Amino acid sequence: MAETFAVRHYDSIGSTNDEARRLAREGAPHGTVIHADEQRSGRGRLTRTWFSPPGNLYMSILLRIDTPPQRTAELGFVAALAVAETVETLLPKDRRALLKWPNDVLVENAKISGILLEMEDDAVILGIGLNVLEAPSGGKYKTTTLVANGGIASVDSARDILLDRLARFLSQWRTEGFAAIKAAWLERSYPIGEMIRINASGTPLEGRFSGLDDAGALLLETPEGIQKILAGDVVIAG
Ligand code: BTN
Repeated sequence: MAETFAVRHYDSIGSTNDEARRLAREGAPHGTVIHADEQRSGRGRLTRTWFSPPGNLYMSILLRIDTPPQRTAELGFVAALAVAETVETLLPKDRRALLKWPNDVLVENAKISGILLEMEDDAVILGIGLNVLEAPSGGKYKTTTLVANGGIASVDSARDILLDRLARFLSQWRTEGFAAIKAAWLERSYPIGEMIRINASGTPLEGRFSGLDDAGALLLETPEGIQKILAGDVVIAG
């Protein structure tokens, strides 16, 4: 199935994810995209806020995909790959995009993009924030922007490239399944065997990164054996 996206643009909005969820309840079709120049109450994962001044990309894509809810998390990995390719398309050749579980995209060890995956009835909302010009400072982790890394991009061109890459990875996911997406994601992530620290529900856990399971959970090798991490953050990599 070829993807067709219909973009609805807003100058300012509370949260593009909230608007996409509202539209999903009203029956908006697969491929509806909410794009805003700024968000007044942008939301991040784990009930965090998302810094959302003008100058960055904030968009939410409404997907109506007939898959069981337990496969929804796979779409976060699909989106992260699309963002990574977009970032590398817009940056000088020597800058690589690294993926950090579950769905962060980093450049030079600093976060450039985050993804918030939500469900509204049977619709999946893929919320993507990409720092083009502005990055928050003083937070818990390092952040960066496309422009700070020598990229020249307008927000609209970043959006269009991202939707194109998303269509390609969605198509790969539909035809080859999560195994292909997982393999592509692992190629862009920290190496298997690397020591990492996870903050899962406030409890720090250290161990060696052992890959992902077939549903996208992080596998952490600890002295007690392999632990499956379903939610949380990798706070140290490398
Ligand atoms: C994260 O915590 O890393 C996820 C951040 C997701 C931010 C995006 S910006 C567009 C969409 N609307 C929101 O309110 N959040 C997501």
